[in-house]
Amino acid sequence: MRNTQSTTTNSITIADLLSDDVALGKMVRTNGWIKSVRTSKAGFSFIHLNDGSCLTNLQIVVEKDLPNYTTEICELTTGCSIQVEGMVVESQGKNQDIEVKATEIKVVGWVKDPETYPISKKQHSLEYLRSMAHLRIRTNTFGAVSRIRHVMSKAIHDYFDQNGFFWVNTPIITTSDCEGAGELFRVSTLDKTTRLEHPEFFGTEAFLTVSGQLNLEAYSLSLTKVYTFGPTFRAENSNTSRHLAEFWMVEPEIAFANLSDNANLAEEFLKYISKRLLERCQEDLIFLNQNEDISQIQQLEELVQKPFQILEYTEAIEALQSSKQSFEFPVQWGVDLKSEHERYLCESYIGGPVIIINYPKDIKAFYMRLNDDNKTVAAMDVLLPGVGEIIGGSQREERLSVLDQRMSDEGLKKDLWWYRDLRKYGTTPHAGFGLGLERFLLYVTGMDNIRDSIPFPRTRNTAGF
Ligand code: 4AD
Ligand code: MG
Repeated sequence: MRNTQSTTTNSITIADLLSDDVALGKMVRTNGWIKSVRTSKAGFSFIHLNDGSCLTNLQIVVEKDLPNYTTEICELTTGCSIQVEGMVVESQGKNQDIEVKATEIKVVGWVKDPETYPISKKQHSLEYLRSMAHLRIRTNTFGAVSRIRHVMSKAIHDYFDQNGFFWVNTPIITTSDCEGAGELFRVSTLDKTTRLEHPEFFGTEAFLTVSGQLNLEAYSLSLTKVYTFGPTFRAENSNTSRHLAEFWMVEPEIAFANLSDNANLAEEFLKYISKRLLERCQEDLIFLNQNEDISQIQQLEELVQKPFQILEYTEAIEALQSSKQSFEFPVQWGVDLKSEHERYLCESYIGGPVIIINYPKDIKAFYMRLNDDNKTVAAMDVLLPGVGEIIGGSQREERLSVLDQRMSDEGLKKDLWWYRDLRKYGTTPHAGFGLGLERFLLYVTGMDNIRDSIPFPRTRNTAGF
């Protein structure tokens, strides 16, 4: 058992309490919010308590001889916060092995008007819960998603640490549009009226980053294996269930590496995280089983076991064209793949994770390495069933003259002198990718909408809380 008696409040979390190590007969103190309370006519109450440390509630049995039984215990409602002291005993009920027989209950926070407690009902729609993002965390679903998100983030750092990568904190404020898609949020101290008379704070226009990649490349061409992991911002116009204006991206970058090394890294990395989630999040994954066809556990096991299939973009287009499926967006060589195409490819054509490589250069960013055919670039997208693209990456253009050509085509030469320097002084083949944390969480948790995989979602017209 972890340090259960040495926290400042001298309390034990419910997760620790329910672990097998707590001896029957032991006196404990614990805290939490009431999930439900039931008072029996025979003069005792059952409280189901949760502190977010795990999905399962702790059952507390309260007998009427407690001094505040009638004045307080009988008044408790869902959502009240309490501190409990009592003895760990074997449970008489069939739903749990142990429970706590209370010797003292302190009410820490009442629910002022129980009728108006926004999450008092058993089932609320996910849409409604989004409007209560400050309280939805107390529901089983959002507790589970939050714990899984934590374990995923920790596994990401652990994977890189164990494999010789250094974590680099790339800037949030930037002057360049890495992806070239123009989906930038401006950062300025000026408003419309002062903009004309006053200089910009940074002396030039500045934006919130859409990707840490360009700065990360500088670090990879010194430290070899690096990654960045942080918030990323895109003024996406697409108001879909797959897009956020603020999301978290993890981006590794490796020097002396090509596209095939990059694809292998992506596969090994996703398998590592999936294994960790299977080890650490069983209870939450089983609870989240929302998909009728396949359980969350099976989904993750498939990801761990199935080798990722590599598919050339050109081959993917042929497969889409010869499929019997009718798509909303027409398919021909040169178009970017839409979500419906991506899902057909991994769900029907391959039946598992797919890495699509070598996209047409015209639909991809300037930094991707031009292939010998002069038509395609060494790009890769990782697609998963049910979600579509979760990773975008590439081998980078390391040849100065080719890079210059692409940059001048896109009018970028002036701003990115330092990025060109990296090709002038000791250039090397290098590659990397970006994983959208919330997209991968959709796959893992089975949630349908990306707004339910981040604590306080920011999308067009919503930035509350
Ligand atoms: O494919 P993207 O645009 O790639 C890059 O930004 C590269 N610079 C990464 C690199 O090579 N270092 O974005 C990477 C991933 C996508 O595959 C997707 O999972 C996620 O970021 N993503 C979003 N997630 C949520 N909301 C959005 N608006 C997203 N845009 C991209
Ligand atoms: Mg992409």
